[in-house]
This record gives sequence, C-alpha cells and structure tokens, in this order.
Amino acid sequence: MTANNLEHVAIIMDGNGRWAQKRGLPRLAGHEKGAETLQEVVKAAVDLGVRYLTVYAFSTENWNRDKEEVSGLMKLLRKYMNSEFKPMQEEGVRILFMGERDMLDADIVEQMAKIERDSKANDKFTLCIALSYGSRQEIVSAVKKIALLAKKEDINIKDIDARMVADMLYTRSIPDPDIVIRTSGEKRISNYLLWQIAYSELFFTPTLWPDFGREELEQIISEFKQRERRYGKN
Ligand code: IPE
Ligand code: IPE
Ligand code: MG
Repeated sequence: MTANNLEHVAIIMDGNGRWAQKRGLPRLAGHEKGAETLQEVVKAAVDLGVRYLTVYAFSTENWNRDKEEVSGLMKLLRKYMNSEFKPMQEEGVRILFMGERDMLDADIVEQMAKIERDSKANDKFTLCIALSYGSRQEIVSAVKKIALLAKKEDINIKDIDARMVADMLYTRSIPDPDIVIRTSGEKRISNYLLWQIAYSELFFTPTLWPDFGREELEQIISEFKQRERRYGKN
C-alpha cells in the first residue's frame, strides 16, 4: 500500500476556555494563547508539505456566547489581523475567510477583504479561516443560489449534481480536507464542513488547543499516511 497523499488539513481549534480555566485565568487568555498556537501550526503545516489548512476560529453558534467573550474575541481578531497576517502574506501564504460576513463589524469585513486581495497571488500555501462560519448555513445558501439559477432558467434541474453544489460553497476553490483534527477531547463536528468531510479521516485528541503543536501534527500526519482510505470500494 502506498502512503496517502496529503493536501488539506482542517482543524477544530477547541479547548481555549478550559486551558485558561485550569490556570485560573480568564477565558480570553486561552484564546490569546490559542492564537499563538495557530501561528506555530501554520509554520509546521508549511514545513510538512501541507497545501491547505482550514481552521475553525468562530462558529455561527459562538455568537450566542456572553457579550464579553464575543467582544474579547473580536478585539483579539483585530489585533491578529493587524500583526500576524502581514508576515504570513510575505512568506507566501494566501489567506481566505469563510463565513457569514453580515454578522461581523464593517471594519473587520473590510480588513478581511483587504487581506484576501493582498494575498491572492500566493499559491504555495492557503490558510482558510472559518469565521462566523456554520456549515448548515453554507449549504442552505448554496441551495438558494441553485434555486435562483433554476428559477431564472439558467440551469436545468437535471444538471444539478454534487459538483454544482460544491461550487456554491465557500470552499469552492479548494480540495476537500484529507484530515480533520479536533482538539480538547470533544468528539463532535459542531457544524464544521459537513459537506466537505464526507471522506475525510478524523482525528480526536485530548490536547487542549493552546497545548497543540508541531509534534502532534506530525504524529497525526504520519498516522494518516498509514490509514486505508477505501471510499466505499472493496
Ligand atoms: C475554542 O475554544 C475557540 C472558540 C470556540 C472561539 P473554546 O472557547 O470553545 O474553549 P472551551 O471548549 O470552552 O474549552
Ligand atoms: C467549535 O467549538 C467552534 C470552534 C472551535 C470555533 P465549540 O466549543 O463552539 O463547540 P461545542 O459548543 O463544544 O460543540
Ligand atoms: Mg469549545
């Protein structure tokens, strides 16, 4: 058996709050440490030959958290956008955002568009950030787009296929994840990439996201390479 080819790793970065609580710190301290982990993991992924990294930073359901936590996260995001994305771009990283932008403040949306524009020509590595993202909402919006095309008679119903649906998702330009990692011991998907992970290999680790790093990513990738991906065949 030849080792599996790896292009795309998707991560549910979970456990920041518990990491902080364990240390008697405010939850936001965990998010700050988690942002540092992301920088390290991006570097590791580049070194390990991964082409696409998609990370779950904030879900549509996370809007229901305490106002204080949400505003703290948005503040951290602004800080991160100002300091971390520039050097990543200069190192050849393309940055994409996916999620419901209407929910975010206008200055953040503007900054997101600028980062996407400025990093557009980078093709070595793509970092895709799921922000205000929900997979069901993504699928519903794809259904609406297709319904509209059918109504306008731009397409025939019989031409609707999996390819067309995939092309209507935020992830239209990138391959499906080969690996999904969830940290913090929770074994659920929490509305992440439901369509795209149909045949992804799943990894659940008890490590809290702020404690995750290069070494564990390497271990997961080496286990992935040995797994047998069958795609329903015998
Ligand atoms: C993940 O960490 C980050 C976000 C959802 C923004 P959590 O904040 O969910 O941390 P736990 O799960 O409460 O420990
Ligand atoms: C999923 O984590 C979302 C992110 C990591 C951004 P949550 O902590 O929000 O998920 P649940 O509530 O445990 O399912
Ligand atoms: Mg959580």
